[in-house]
Parts: sequence; C-alpha cells; structure tokens
Amino acid sequence: MILTENDVYCGDLILVNKDHMYRRDGETPFERAGSELLSQRAAAALKLLLKATDSENDITVVSGFRSYQEQRELWESSLSENGRKFTEQYVARPLHSEHQTGLAVDVGLNIEDIDFIRPYFPDEGKCRAFRLNAPKFGFILRYPADKEHITRISHEPWHFRYVGVPHAEIMEQNGLTLEEYTEFLKAYSKSELIFGDFAVSYIKGERLPLEIPDAYSVSGNNVDGFVLSRRTK
Ligand code: DAL
Ligand code: ZN
Repeated sequence: MILTENDVYCGDLILVNKDHMYRRDGETPFERAGSELLSQRAAAALKLLLKATDSENDITVVSGFRSYQEQRELWESSLSENGRKFTEQYVARPLHSEHQTGLAVDVGLNIEDIDFIRPYFPDEGKCRAFRLNAPKFGFILRYPADKEHITRISHEPWHFRYVGVPHAEIMEQNGLTLEEYTEFLKAYSKSELIFGDFAVSYIKGERLPLEIPDAYSVSGNNVDGFVLSRRTK
C-alpha cells in the first residue's frame, strides 16, 4: 500500500474536533444501521455489539452519518432554539463533527419521545451493557464526563465513535480520549506498542509517498501522520 498526503485525512482513527476539521466531506458512507448510514466497518461492528448485548430492540440508532448541510442545519437550529452555550457544549460546528465521517453514532434507549441532540442513554441495564462491551467491538465513549476539558464537548453518554480494534480497548484500558491517544501513539515511532495479538505504531506523514507492507492496517490521524497496526499472531 502506498500512503500519500490525502491518506492523513482518512481512516478509522481520524481525530475530528474543534481544532481538526474533517477534510473529506462528500464521501458518503453507504451501510445502513437502523434508519441511519454509517461507514461499512462501523455499521457491521454496531450490529455485532447490539447482538452481543441483546439490545437490538431496546437501543435505537438515533443519528449516524450527517452531511455538511445536515450538521449546519442542526448547528443553526440549535443556536436559535437552545442558545450558544448549550449548542457549543453539545453540537459540533459543521466540518468539525465526527458525524460527518460516518464513524460516530448516537444511540438512545428506545422510548417514545427521543431527543435528537441528547438521547436518553442511562448508565444501567442494556445501555450500560452496551457501553461496557463497546470497546471489544471497536467503539469508544467519545465524550466522557471527566475529559470535558480535553474534548471540549460536554459529557455525551449516547455518542460512540468507531475507532476499530485493538485501538478502542487500548484507549479504554488506559483511560484515553481520541485526543490523548493521538498524542500517546507518537511515542511509538521507533518501537511498537504490543497489545494482545496486535502491534501498533505511528509514522509521521513526511517523505510521502511511502510504501507500507500489506500486513499493516493503516489509518490517518487527521493531524500529522498515520497509525499502523498489525497482527503478531
Ligand atoms: N454531538 C457531537 C459533538 C456532534 O455534533 O458532532
Ligand atoms: Zn453524536
């Protein structure tokens, strides 16, 4: 596989937040998850997670992929209905939302009146089981309560982000947000991080194009380089 500059901005590990915008707008994911669309790998993993926690009927997919236009309309309608403070806490600006990548999903308890911006997702029962099992299937709780100063988004118990395996479990076990994981991996440019049957490393996006052996899975980090992982067994 040959990595070029564009590849820094795509893949399951791209960091999209207030500082790092999504640069691949227009690449619509095509796999259905309930009534929503998600990237193919995220949709498949979500189905498995719902099945493993026996929550297909209890948890509903409230929001998956959103186009630039949809995110803009959400941002603007929330500004006028909920005000700036609330909107900056719970809605990302257009081009800065993970929902535009097809890798983020909002899930909610399947109740009658579902709040689109803040679905009800209590930390008990099926919802708790979903959260606890999410990392095994490649999902992280993206905006935890104790990391609001890092994510700069308020605690969102309903918003999960697909980053893939083994990254979600490494992040969970080390208590790292995607912002922190992106930095943390930079220490592994000369050696690999060994986790279970995986080895993970980082390559700075310089001297491109760069050829990578096919044994590696690669994602851009949307900042300055690539995350590589390979199976050791
Ligand atoms: N609720 C998250 C921050 C979004 O709008 O992408
Ligand atoms: Zn969300």
